Amino acid sequence: MASDSASTLDDEDPTIAELIAARPQFAMHAMDGLLMDGVPLNAIADALGTPSWVISAPTLRRRYREMAVAFGEAGLDVRIHYAVKANDHLAVLRVLGGEGAGADVVSGGELLRALEAGIAAERIVFSGVGKTEAELRLALRHDVEQINVESAEELEMLSALATAMGRVVHIALRVNPDVDAGTHAKISTGRARDKFGIPYVDAAVLYARAAALPGVRPTGLAVHIGSQIRSMAPFRAAYGRIADLVRQLRQDGRSVDRVDCGGGLGIGYRCEPGGSPRALAGAIRTSLGKLDLKLMVEPGRWLAGPAGVLLASVVLEKRSGGYRFVVLDAAMNDLVRPSMYEAWHGIVPVSAVDARRPVSPADIVGPVCESGDTFARSRNIPPLAAGGRVAILDAGAYGGVMSSTYNARPLAAMAMLDPGAGRDGFAVIRQRQPVAALWRDEIVPAWLR
Ligand code: LLP
Repeated sequence: MASDSASTLDDEDPTIAELIAARPQFAMHAMDGLLMDGVPLNAIADALGTPSWVISAPTLRRRYREMAVAFGEAGLDVRIHYAVKANDHLAVLRVLGGEGAGADVVSGGELLRALEAGIAAERIVFSGVGKTEAELRLALRHDVEQINVESAEELEMLSALATAMGRVVHIALRVNPDVDAGTHAKISTGRARDKFGIPYVDAAVLYARAAALPGVRPTGLAVHIGSQIRSMAPFRAAYGRIADLVRQLRQDGRSVDRVDCGGGLGIGYRCEPGGSPRALAGAIRTSLGKLDLKLMVEPGRWLAGPAGVLLASVVLEKRSGGYRFVVLDAAMNDLVRPSMYEAWHGIVPVSAVDARRPVSPADIVGPVCESGDTFARSRNIPPLAAGGRVAILDAGAYGGVMSSTYNARPLAAMAMLDPGAGRDGFAVIRQRQPVAALWRDEIVPAWLR
């Protein structure tokens, strides 16, 4: 099983200085400590306490524009549908929607969030392997741009629902191309054994079936092979197969106008190069560029990951049997990626004085009662006194959205920074969950009271 960072597993970990230098959004200021897009993270931690998430509006915008420019320079008209699951905060959706992004949603909740944030239904694509009847009805009622259908069963259900509602919806068939994206097994979605999509060999027959059904208008194909993919080879393989299918369908007399190229572009969690929008644009152009298609992509991580950090404070450092443990006030319930995917995240002291001290290896852990509650093993980190702060980097995607309240730990606060807006350069965008909210919706039966 390849891990998130398999290709660099044997490399030395980058130093703290290297982590900062490789990321344009960060700088270390001698007095103010770690700055993100010019705003001192210490000021945010002072205001919100820790653990807290910080998301940078300028980094979101910069990355969105870089991707849009890459497609434009490749001569492609590719619409960017942000994968809402990566970070679904309304303020994040507002920033990206304001840049022109549409949305890729996978639940009724995400659909309503995107609408609430002002993203028009005509720019919303509904994906997902198990949309319920209620969710499909909601999508039909709002007249979304497209529904990506993942099975024959869903196709029949959608046709019946749309017909009953007197609607006709554009659909794309999500095809499973049987391509191994070479990423972590838990986030690979394009192999035949994965639950996603319609088997490649069944797609043409199902497309014909869709063309004959009322309420649905098949307009294209969709493909998404997995997440955190930095090499172009799997994308090329998948898009090549989709291009073949487009040609085959057209030969059969079907009309195919759109291809949704999915998400999956990875980032460099260490200092390795991240997936490149230019290279992705090249892969799309080579396979699909000459087929006169409306193209779309569904990036999540590439846009939002580097735009966020999780701020945490040191509770204590302990020595135990010759090992050094730095115990933070953030835990796996906040950021689950290291526990769940063995993911590597950079961890940087917020204070410039701390960051200059000599390092030695420590396990950086949370207080939750599981050994899996470990952010980093044998990580070179300076000594940190209780109350010392660290920033866990590249946590803007699949961070706060995957949090839980395990161990009765309330959901952390969130801030958005934007140096151009307001006096402080940041705003609280989610209050820390009050502890009593943890049981607010619980009902103790009368016989126990
Ligand atoms: N489109 C579809 C249909 C998807 O299932 C996904 C992600 C995306 C787009 C966006 O993929 P991205 O560009 O972000 O790679 N929690 C995991 C990642 C799960 C990805 C799920 N699907 C993690 O933390 O690594």
